[in-house]
This record gives sequence, structure tokens and C-alpha cells, in this order.
Amino acid sequence: MRNLFLLLFSMNITLRSLLFLILFSLPTNLLALTQAEDQFVYNGFNGANLRLDGSAKVHPNGLLQLTNTSDQQIGHAFYQLPLKFNTSSSRLVQSLSFSTTFVFAIVPQLPSLGGHGVAFTISASMDFSQATPTQYLGLLNSSNNGLSSNHLLAVEFDTAKSPDFEDIDQNHVGIDVNSLKSIVSTPVTYTEEGTEKSLVLISGKAIQVWIDYDDAEKLLSITLAPIETPKPIQPLLSTTIDLSLVLKDSMYVGFSAATGSITSNHYILGWSFSRKGQAQELELSKLPSFPRRRETMEKPGLKVTVSLITVSMVLIIGAITWTVYVIRRRKYEELREDWEQEYGPQRFSYKDLHKATNGFKDTELLGAGGFGKVYRGVLPSSSKEIAVKKISHGSVQGMKEFVSEIASMGRLRHRNLVQLLGYCRRRGELLLVYDYMPNSSLDKFLFSNEKPNLNWAQRYRIIKGVASALLYLHKEWEQVVIHRDVKASNVLLDADLNGRLGDFGLARLCDHGANPETTNVVGTVGYIAPELTRTGQATTFTDVFAFGAFMLEVACGRRPVEPQGLPQERFLVDWVLESWKQGAILETSDPRFEGDYVVEEMELILKLGLLCSQSNPVARPSMRQVTQYLNGDVLPEILLESAEFGMVILGHGAPADFVLSTCSVSSIESILIRGR
Ligand SMILES: *[C@@H]1O[C@H](CO)[C@@H](O)[C@H](O)[C@H]1NC(C)=O
Ligand SMILES: *[C@@H]1O[C@H](CO)[C@@H](O)[C@H](O)[C@H]1NC(C)=O
Repeated sequence: MRNLFLLLFSMNITLRSLLFLILFSLPTNLLALTQAEDQFVYNGFNGANLRLDGSAKVHPNGLLQLTNTSDQQIGHAFYQLPLKFNTSSSRLVQSLSFSTTFVFAIVPQLPSLGGHGVAFTISASMDFSQATPTQYLGLLNSSNNGLSSNHLLAVEFDTAKSPDFEDIDQNHVGIDVNSLKSIVSTPVTYTEEGTEKSLVLISGKAIQVWIDYDDAEKLLSITLAPIETPKPIQPLLSTTIDLSLVLKDSMYVGFSAATGSITSNHYILGWSFSRKGQAQELELSKLPSFPRRRETMEKPGLKVTVSLITVSMVLIIGAITWTVYVIRRRKYEELREDWEQEYGPQRFSYKDLHKATNGFKDTELLGAGGFGKVYRGVLPSSSKEIAVKKISHGSVQGMKEFVSEIASMGRLRHRNLVQLLGYCRRRGELLLVYDYMPNSSLDKFLFSNEKPNLNWAQRYRIIKGVASALLYLHKEWEQVVIHRDVKASNVLLDADLNGRLGDFGLARLCDHGANPETTNVVGTVGYIAPELTRTGQATTFTDVFAFGAFMLEVACGRRPVEPQGLPQERFLVDWVLESWKQGAILETSDPRFEGDYVVEEMELILKLGLLCSQSNPVARPSMRQVTQYLNGDVLPEILLESAEFGMVILGHGAPADFVLSTCSVSSIESILIRGR
């Protein structure tokens, strides 16, 4: 050492500092490359030590964006360096404890629907290339979901209700261990000054989260509040969990977010993390700003002098009164244009619908999906029960044409159609009013155990009813109406369990607003005729195809495509066809019948289903022929022998899930189908 210093002395100054640098900074650099610091704080992410992938990016102001509002995106941002959790070696003082706080914001594309959410994640790997978006949040996929080999802990901020994972609602926080089905979850609320307040994740507000794990007590706690509110004393969610069973020695921390067909911008504004005690506070004033949906107008600050105080008081009171007036007006505001006058009788006032549905309360929600949310209501004037479908959309060209179609559909009268009573229009929102169907939709009876089984006679009557409704739409009314979305979930059951077709022609809304350069196929996988994807043109033939799939699902009690099923049974048409060729067509019938059905009728429905599923549109029977077969005409057996069958299967051989139908204007769910 002495020699070294002598040497240094004899050198000139620059050389000396260079040598110092090399000698003393190299070892610490090496250390930093292999192991993370015990803590880090990012008030904005410029220069942050992050690994980004997918749609994630850091804006020039330091804002971390995980996804934008494009469909089916995944974005990740993880701290580059692994954290040592010492799960195996002798316990250090705080071996598994950690503490973190971060601020996020979710700005959805549509004001009332968000998709799909963001998750704080501790993961054994940063490779999420095989993960799926939508409800998998970019963390897992359908084949590895739930495996204990995942070594994954996530705290999800979920803005969509996924029935697959038994989500409680579309605004919850959940703790996920190796699976997106949360071990515990709760709707989002926070407490301020002792009172519990609700908080909407997709409100576009910046929300601060605190997550702490105390290894001694094995307690994981999650607390959250809007950014302007101090940290609530009581955590929103806390649960006992032994993380030594989940974590490995070396783990990565970060965030994942994903969109589906319903999308949101997911932002992270700041993040602090610590393995030693409380995470350091974020400096909220330094956090980057993020784009909100509507820029609120900034009022110029008034420089109030003493003599002006009285004047400004008057102004303020005036402004408050005016604001209250505007808010009141806005609440019931609707859009009415001159051309709508002729539809006067079918026009409902928003105020009436608002009252009928208790202000569109969640308790009145009958269902969501398809084209929007459906609420139950009682009209104040007549005490009539109604169902109100609320469809959010962007600016739709051709609204005039669409409303005129709705008006003419209001004149359709058939005992197997759900009666459309009228409509109402607001900015970005269309409300359709229907007769209320007390028994909800057929799929609930067929595919879930929440409703009783329907016997064969009931199902056969439903098929006949829906066939006669389609015949009416195609042939018996003054103009041809194409339904475009025939399927079990669009068949509703009235008080006597008669099948009634709903949602007719609604898919047109999608067409009207769609970009003319892209052909968006509207419909649902398994029901979409092959030619529809080529031409984009819905016809009576495409309706017949969908009706074929519908008959098969009613007879077999399962959906046209079961991604999880046995390979030979995955596609219903293929399975029925193969079974028929082997002379065992009845084996495809719904096992819940336990053999109790009329064999001739069952055979007829299955074969007719196949006949309607032919890939050549003109080879399919017309609805008139279908009705005749159902009423006893003999089925031409020979047709089946020579037929070709088709079904739309996208994503052939591709690794990822594919989107078949999306729609740019409304909240239409797109449908995922796995490559075969
Ligand atoms: C979202 O980001 C992707 C690239 O990551 C880009 O291609 C797409 O246009 C963006 N979408 C929107 C709506 O900005
Ligand atoms: C799911 O992910 C795992 C590994 O991450 C991968 O091996 C598997 O092929 C993926 N499965 C699907 C269906 O994408």
C-alpha cells in the first residue's frame, strides 16, 4: 500500500485520478450489476433502471406508460436487477419483508368501461413473451395459469369482471398467487376522516398505493387512496400469506398491464421500493403529469385586492349557482335533432329511463357484454317492466340511418322476438328500450348450473320458436332484416320459457361507424360463416349458418368452440360430423338429458345443424326450408354425404390468441380463439 501511494504521488494529477477511479469504483460497479440496491425511489422514470417490453414506454416528462388504448396490448416495466429474497439460506432480519408505494392512473378509452387493468408483480422471470393480454393481464396464459411453478405474486387492480376467474366486479383489488384467480379480493374503496368512500379505478384519477409485507407476521397489506388524500390508517386489504412458499431466491419486481378489446391507457407516475423498513415517500409534486381524457379548462387566477373582495364573492356565488344548474341539466341532457321528429312516439326521455332504472344503479344491472350494459327498469308512468340497453359509442356517422332502422324495427311484431319499444340518444350513448324478459338468456340455462336444466320438449320448442322468428325477419316482413348475431346468449326466455330472439340488427351499429378501409367482421366465433370473413357482407345465409351452430349448441348443451375440450371435441361441428359418420351421432347429445329425448327429433336437429353449417352458402337450406324440416318434411339425407363444412378458425398454428372480431365504435367485446 505504501508503495502504491508513493507511486500515485509521483504521477501527474489526471493519471492519478484515473487510477483512483479504476481502483476504487470498479468493485462497487460490479456489485451493482449483479444485485439490486435495498431500495430505490423514482419520482418519474427518466433514467430509471427499468426493463420495458411490449407497449411500455417512458415519455420525455418521465411518465411511464404501460399500454395505450390499442386492442390486445401488453406492457411491462420491471426493475432491471433481481432482488435477493433469501428463501433458503438462514433467515436474515428482514429476509422476505418489503415495502413499496407507487402512483398509477388509468384513463379508459370509453368513459364507463375499462380494460383490463394493471398489476404490481413480483416474478421469478421477466420473460412474459408467452403471456396473454385481456384477463391474464400479460402475466400468464391459459395453460400455465395456476401452476405453483410460476413463482408469481401479483396485486391486481382489475377493471374488468372476468367470469373465468370469478371476479367480484369490474373495480377491485386482488391478491394473485401463481394464478389470475385471486386468493382474496375486494371492491376498491378508501377511508378519509373515518368515512369509507368509493373510488373508481378508471376514473382517470392518480391513485397512490402502499403495499407492505411483514415477514414476521406473514402479513401482506394493501392500502390505497387518491393522490391528494393522505394514506388511510386502515389497509383496504390485508391477508396472511407465507411468501416463502411463493418467492424464490432471486425475484424481479415491476408492473404489468394489458388491454382487451375494451382498452385503457395505464400509467405509472412514480415508484418507491424498499427491502429495509418503510419505502421512502414519493415527492408527489415532482411526479410527471399524464394526459387526461378531457382537458379541464383552467380558470385564470384572480388577483383579489381588498376593494374587489365583495365583487368576487358575488361572482363566486353566481358561478356556483350556474354550475349547479349546469350539472342538473347535464344529468338529464340528451341529444335530439330535427330529423328525429318523425320518431317521436318511439323516443323515450332520458329522465324517464334514469328514473326507471334508479339512475342506472348497479343493482339493476341485468348483464354486460355484447353491445353494452343492460339494466332492468320500471317505467314510472305505466309501471311496465322494461330492459334498457346502454350502448357507448364514439362519434358514429350514419346515426340517422341507424335510428331510422331502429324505428322500423320497433314495428316488427312476432311472438318470438323481443319487442323493441323505443330509444333515446345522448352524446356518445344510445339507449334501447325492450320488453323485460324475466327468465334472462338461454345460455344461462345451457352452460351454467345457476339455472335448472331444460328438458328436450322445452329446447325443441325454443329452437322452433327462434326459427320462426328468423323466417319472419328474412321472408315475412316488408323488408329483409338480417339478424347478424344469432346465438344462445341472444335468445331470451319469457315467463313461459318461450325462446325470443333479441338484439336484431344491432351489429349494424358497428358497421356504420367502422372505418370503410377495414372490414370488421361482426359476430361471434363459432357462429361466423366462412364467407363472412372474406366479404364482410352479412346475408340471410350467414344467419342460417349461425342458426345451425345455435341448434347444435342447444342439442349438445355446449358452445360451438371449447378451447379447453378434447382435441376431437373442440369444434362442435367437427365432432358432430365425425360422430355422424361413425353412426354415433346421438352420442353428442347433451348428457344432462340422460337419454330422455325423442330420438327422431334429436337426429333431425343435429343433422339440420350440420346442413346449415356447410361452407358453401347456397348449399345451406333457407329459413323457410329449415322451418319445413322442423315441421315434419323429410330431411334430404343425400345432401349431407357430399357436403363440405366450414368454420372460421383464425390463428391457425399461431402461438398467440387471435382476435376475430373487433369493432372500432362501440364497446363490443371481441372474441378470442386459440389457434388449433
Ligand atoms: C399504441 O402503441 C402502439 C405501439 O406500441 C402503436 O402501434 C399504436 O398505434 C398505439 N395506439 C394508439 C391508440 O395510440
Ligand atoms: C404459456 O406459457 C408457457 C410458459 O410461459 C409456455 O410454455 C406455453 O406454451 C404457453 N401456452 C400457450 C397456450 O400459449
